[in-house]
Amino acid sequence: MAYKMLTKAALVAGLAVSAAFSVSAADKPKLMMGADAAMLANTCAGCHGTGGNSMGPAAPSIAGLSPTYFNETMAGFASGEIPSTIMGRIAKGYTEDEIGAMAKFYSGKKFMKAKQDFDPALADKGAKLHDKYCEKCHADGGQSAEDDAGVLAGQWTPYVNWTLADYKAGDREATKKMKKKLSELLEREGSDGVIALLNFYASQQK
Ligand code: HEC
Ligand code: HEC
Repeated sequence: MAYKMLTKAALVAGLAVSAAFSVSAADKPKLMMGADAAMLANTCAGCHGTGGNSMGPAAPSIAGLSPTYFNETMAGFASGEIPSTIMGRIAKGYTEDEIGAMAKFYSGKKFMKAKQDFDPALADKGAKLHDKYCEKCHADGGQSAEDDAGVLAGQWTPYVNWTLADYKAGDREATKKMKKKLSELLEREGSDGVIALLNFYASQQK
């Protein structure tokens, strides 16, 4: 199997800088004082890459996300409704206007699919499972941002994996219909089904 299960804690421990990270009023550019979205986004670049394409598996890429999804996710991190290791603390440091400006900034950037290992046979199996259970709301094999549901194709695998684990555990609330599809998948295919899906998303590199 190409993808090895890693714990969230092990991955995040790899982000050595993260422990020391916090948004203080002093180093945060103020939107009202003329700081533009690109300046605000500088704070995110260390983990999410310049322009929102993360250079490694510890943080997801955020380029090309729909503003609706971006805004809702940041609000969910800030309120604690969406579990996070780091983003809850960060999201609390920004006003709605500032987050809206960053949402617009990142939605205009191109999502670059990560180059990562995958198992071709599992990816084939995952493609079929995706069509059956997920494609309806994660169109084009999970590449489309238009359905305001994040981007799965070419996203870093550990992030997709732990996000699915959060949904499965009920720590992150999925929409009713997604919950139904995800439980059907888990009932019929078990965690092998999830691993096949992860390989399918990782296999999309173009
Ligand atoms: C220290 C590293 C770090 C910094 C700095 C950081 N992030 Fe994150 N970001 C993460 C990690 C890790 C996750 C996964 C959720 C978690 O565990 O916190 C994430 C997740 C996200 C997501 C969700 C992506 C998705 O597909 O659902 C968004 C949106 C996001 N970050 C936006 C931002 C913005 C905007 C900034 C700057 C204001 C920022 N992040 C700064 C590490 C970071
Ligand atoms: C009925 C529509 C629907 C179906 C079916 C669906 N999803 Fe979703 N999915 C959503 C929406 C809407 C969101 C964003 C809002 C949220 O957090 O629930 C989302 C978010 C996600 C995320 C988080 C994205 C991110 O960037 O963090 C993952 C991972 C995910 N879905 C995986 C799946 C998988 C795998 C399947 C198939 C087993 C699936 N979804 C089926 C609607 C759906």
